[in-house]
Amino acid sequence: MHDIIRRLEEKRELARLGGGKKRIEAQHKKGKLTARERIEMLLDPDSFEEWDMFVEHRCSDFGMDKQTIPGDGVVTGFGTINGRLVFVFSQDFTVFGGSLSEAHAEKIAKIMDQAIRVGAPVIGLNDSGGARIQEGVASLAGYAEVFQRNVMASGVVPQISMIMGPCAGGAVYSPAMTDFIFMVKDTSYMFVTGPDVVKTVTHEEVTHEELGGAITHTTTSGVADKAFENDAEALLYMRRFFDFLPSNNKEKPPVRPTPDSSERVETSLDTLVPDNPNLPYDMKELIGKVMDEGDFFELQPDYAGNIIIGFGRMEGSTVGVVANQPMVLAGCLDISSSTKAARFVRFCDCFNIPIVTFVDVPGFMPGTAQEYGGIIKHGAKLLYAFAEATVPKVTVITRKAYGGAYDVMSSKHLRGDVNFAWPTAEIAVMGPKGAVEIIFRGDIGDDKKIADRTEEYRERFANPFIAGHRGFIDDVIMPHNTRVRLCRSLRMLRNKELENPWKKHGNIPL
Ligand code: HXC
Repeated sequence: MHDIIRRLEEKRELARLGGGKKRIEAQHKKGKLTARERIEMLLDPDSFEEWDMFVEHRCSDFGMDKQTIPGDGVVTGFGTINGRLVFVFSQDFTVFGGSLSEAHAEKIAKIMDQAIRVGAPVIGLNDSGGARIQEGVASLAGYAEVFQRNVMASGVVPQISMIMGPCAGGAVYSPAMTDFIFMVKDTSYMFVTGPDVVKTVTHEEVTHEELGGAITHTTTSGVADKAFENDAEALLYMRRFFDFLPSNNKEKPPVRPTPDSSERVETSLDTLVPDNPNLPYDMKELIGKVMDEGDFFELQPDYAGNIIIGFGRMEGSTVGVVANQPMVLAGCLDISSSTKAARFVRFCDCFNIPIVTFVDVPGFMPGTAQEYGGIIKHGAKLLYAFAEATVPKVTVITRKAYGGAYDVMSSKHLRGDVNFAWPTAEIAVMGPKGAVEIIFRGDIGDDKKIADRTEEYRERFANPFIAGHRGFIDDVIMPHNTRVRLCRSLRMLRNKELENPWKKHGNIPL
């Protein structure tokens, strides 16, 4: 008996060593933690239950039969984050560069299947050289098995990818189908084809970092949601982020008790909007002052800054925030901001997270770049997402809500449950000057006349009351009461029930 136990311990010890001390040292030298160290940092102490520690690959080509390492390059299992169940896979770069073999893929698929069955999120820690080259098509098949599960899990349990090393070729498409992608600066990259292929095909010279590093994907492509300085920071933020999410599509968002009173008034908000309608102000100040304890987890902060998305809490419950940002491009909607917000709205709707929308939008961005780029189709994504969403939707118009963008931004007409406006709101087809220059085109050149007409238009339409007369706005609220009114509305909406007509699935403009 003692022998058997000792043998088991030895086997476990061997598996824990992964690719061996030398490769572990090399991993540390790059500033990276090992697959197991990452899991340890991510999960609650002693909560990790490992599966398939003894799985080995079945490849015998290229001398692989003489090289087997238990676990085959990925550590999988389940554990808890602040007491809540989560499934995890963590690729081990010290074992064949974390490359994905048939067996490696089967391990990932196994925990994904189980996560779907029990309704718990999946976190993938990616650090891999891609398809296990020695295995050929068996590896490609393994990827496809994972992709299929990504799609089946989508909208059922939250899926989060942390890119902590290479992630290249078709391998990028598994993270791409998860709900959120986080990256570690300097040590991670993602691209479909690497710098060498790029040079051959397009003659462009570009580094790994420029092509697919964390900065590129959080500022230029919008592929990743946030970048972190190092592994430790990334994993600690992941724990914080996880706390906002429900475990599955049947659960309500988690509630965390808060000392912050729902009756808290913020008098400073009364002067947030400047008197001059052309001056910007920081919408993040409003978000910070309204959310519980000022806590707001912003996603994609450095991409399409004209719209803000992220999670906060109100009365302890998670809410998704979508807000125009007047500080960037005057808060207008363009291709990037529409797609950024649309995907976020759909995530919230999948997982029963109420959406709070703050509106100050002068319209859609004009220009050939936008039209040729397909703003019609991409803008429609956000419209579609808000219109389709059945979760509680509460909207506050702080200033401009012009034209089609008024309709899009969670308006009453798209089944907004509660639609508030501040007294500074201007709800109209367009800004006063633009409107006058169209309907009184003959007066152009007569500055006095145009100025008078503009003032008249402003008096008549640049306020929240015309919309209020029709019930498109439920109330005009004092800015200092915004938190109080939002909390009451969200409380009222807690048991909201609304269903869309049966369909196989809709056809969102992609
Ligand atoms: C098998 C691999 C491997 C792979 C790396 N290794 N990638 N083994 N299959 N794909 C092994 C190396 O042989 C080496 O083994 C160890 O992992 C570490 O690799 P190094 O090259 O020493 O590390 P580093 O210098 O940090 O470079 C990392 C790397 C490079 C940039 C990822 O290894 C690399 O370019 N690998 C090949 C990437 C690739 O072309 N993958 C296939 C992409 S196509 P030893 O024993 O020396 O430690 C693909 C298609 C997916 O993925 C399709 C899905 C639909």
